[in-house]
Amino acid sequence: MKITTILGARPQFIKATVVSSEFAARPGIDEEIIHTGQHYDVSLSGIFFAELGLPEPRHRLEVGFGPHGRQTARMLERLEATLEAHRPDLVLVYGDTNSTLAGALASAKLHIPVAHVEAGLRSFNRRMPEEINRVITDHLSTFLYAPTETAVANLAREGISGKRVMQVGDVMFDVVRRFAAVSRRDLLDRLSLVPNQFVLATIHRAETTDDPTRLCAVVDALCKVAQRIPVVLPLHPRTRQRLRSLRIEAPRLGEIRMIEPLGYFDMAYATHHARLVVTDSGGLQKEAFFHRVPCVTLRSETEWVETVALGWNTVVPPDSPDLVVGEIEAALARPAPPEPLIDPYGGGKAAQRIAAHLETLARVIPTASDSDSLRSSWPGSSRPSTSLI
Ligand code: UD1
Repeated sequence: MKITTILGARPQFIKATVVSSEFAARPGIDEEIIHTGQHYDVSLSGIFFAELGLPEPRHRLEVGFGPHGRQTARMLERLEATLEAHRPDLVLVYGDTNSTLAGALASAKLHIPVAHVEAGLRSFNRRMPEEINRVITDHLSTFLYAPTETAVANLAREGISGKRVMQVGDVMFDVVRRFAAVSRRDLLDRLSLVPNQFVLATIHRAETTDDPTRLCAVVDALCKVAQRIPVVLPLHPRTRQRLRSLRIEAPRLGEIRMIEPLGYFDMAYATHHARLVVTDSGGLQKEAFFHRVPCVTLRSETEWVETVALGWNTVVPPDSPDLVVGEIEAALARPAPPEPLIDPYGGGKAAQRIAAHLETLARVIPTASDSDSLRSSWPGSSRPSTSLI
């Protein structure tokens, strides 16, 4: 079976690593990667291919940055042409970025079945571009790989259920487990950081960076925290641009240690050894949990409700510096929560489950000419969704 994987942004390169290597080990699956070019800097793209051993993309669409409409439209146009020329049996998309949406839409219109990894996540906040992307992608998908029970329930509420929804676990947990042994000791030395005695912060989401009140609240709060414990902040280009355009620079940035974005191994090592993670990222709040590091999430809500229920994550909207400082201080003072009795994220076997499912399909429907029957045979199915297939 010919599978085309569509990737475009940093977290997708990371997630695809484990799934692609499962595909490579299965002779019935022939994968090729399309890189939309949404992320193009080495620090947001190239480094992940090099470090994590992800196969080179077969096609690079080089759409680059632009407003949402233009960026997504460029992707659609180029994806349609590429997919039409290659006619895969199935297209695989990850997460909730503009590349995810464009990949799902282009494929669905060409009647190519779509499989969505990280299906069913909801923040219930339609002001987030990611929420719009993931809702539409789920409704266009033939197969939905949900990471958690909550995600399966979210899909069911929207009328998406049956055999095509599979609770497989979280692929990011697979990645954390796979590379757990990689050491980056020199990183902490270089930054003069002591394990367990620093805060690791990231901010990049449009809701935080594009709202000057929120961005200033985060910066002022981190400055205050940095007076008592080192705060290291790897800067996403979006955040760097916003800080520059608001003229937020030294001395307002105080003791915050701003650094370039980190590669996967450095970031994982820094996360593992942090005393606390403070972030607006969807992925990092979960990675903090995987490393059993407490997290303060700077948002109004989270899709990863399990991390909150288990006591490892606190969600706070960055509406004022005092509010944020208060939550960070409280999190630093709190003892670590107990080890969870159950693992809500699938035990590190999500990629295996996804590949095994697609391999089974490949045996049933092995050729491109049968793609339409593949598409039509699943969505109507009324069998209840399976838990951790
Ligand atoms: C995108 C995703 C977000 C994901 C994030 C991971 C959408 C709507 N958002 O947000 O869900 O969490 O990726 O990082 O798809 N830029 C560079 N170099 C690059 C890429 C981008 O400088 O290689 C700059 C662009 O010029 C732009 C900004 O970063 O100013 C934002 O890039 P964009 O791809 O629109 O979204 P992200 O914020 O990265």
